[in-house]
Amino acid sequence: MELRLDDKVAVVTGGSRGIGLAIATEYANSGAQVMIVSRKADACEAAAAEIGHGCIWMAGNVGDADFAEAAIDRAVSDFGRVDVLVNNAATNPYAGPIIDVDLPRWEKTLQVNLTAPLLWTQLAWQKSMRDGDGGCSVIHVSSVGGLATSEMLGVYNLTKSGLMNMTRQLAAEMGPKVRVNAVAPGLIKTDFAKMLWEGDRGDEVAKAYPLGRLGETADIAGAAMYLAAETGSWITGETIVLDGGGLVSLSRGGG
Ligand SMILES: NC(=O)c1ccc[n+]([C@@H]2O[C@H](COP(=O)([O-])OP(=O)(O)OC[C@H]3O[C@@H](n4cnc5c(N)ncnc54)[C@H](OP(=O)(O)O)[C@@H]3O)[C@@H](O)[C@H]2O)c1
Repeated sequence: MELRLDDKVAVVTGGSRGIGLAIATEYANSGAQVMIVSRKADACEAAAAEIGHGCIWMAGNVGDADFAEAAIDRAVSDFGRVDVLVNNAATNPYAGPIIDVDLPRWEKTLQVNLTAPLLWTQLAWQKSMRDGDGGCSVIHVSSVGGLATSEMLGVYNLTKSGLMNMTRQLAAEMGPKVRVNAVAPGLIKTDFAKMLWEGDRGDEVAKAYPLGRLGETADIAGAAMYLAAETGSWITGETIVLDGGGLVSLSRGGG
């Protein structure tokens, strides 16, 4: 089975940098027509140019329902359909115990990390996947934190945990036309997780991982490729943990 996406159309949210950019690049290099979205237009434009292969982009907030609809409409009008949707964009505006979280930051985290993936999946389903020939795939970017408790990241982790459950539920509802899976990364050196790896902190985490290093965006893109391509054709409802063994580490004491 080939790791190719020829003739497939893929939409990647949060595709302007980090994990989303790596996935979009991998897909485009494997033959897919790709659309990326994120909030900053200049970053989207630069990333689309870097990705090449006719990559298109739109700038907006994934939690904005009108933007989501306009983006899926654009992908369908430019490329004819949507075969692969990667719900990758996420936010983490609050660090602290859940018991103390204020309502605005609670709602913002749920809106971007949980409501938006559902909304984008609904739109892709209604406007394309439902009426196609099948072979479609939705991939949620969750987090290994969704399987753990944490002193500071409880709210964020809860949304990632919800995403794993939504993956199973949507897989049951959307088969056989659409497979729905998730990836759950451990610590990856991106802007998003900077406070967790800056200075010596990254080395400490890496030492605790059985595989001895932090993750690279390419580690996650490889799994997203495997799931979207023919190689993943009998996999649905699954979350693949990619964490260098962090979850099974003997020195692990939590998230
Ligand atoms: N890095 C890690 O260690 C790690 C670990 C586990 C899971 N993850 C997950 O991996 C995914 C990607 O994270 P990353 O580390 O690659 O982060 P990143 O490098 O900061 O990239 C995040 C991307 O999402 C976009 N974005 C953020 N909020 C958005 C919004 N509301 N609407 C539209 N686009 C938005 C950003 O662009 P703009 O700012 O221009 O919008 C950017 O393109 C997230 O789901 C994150 O939870 C990351």
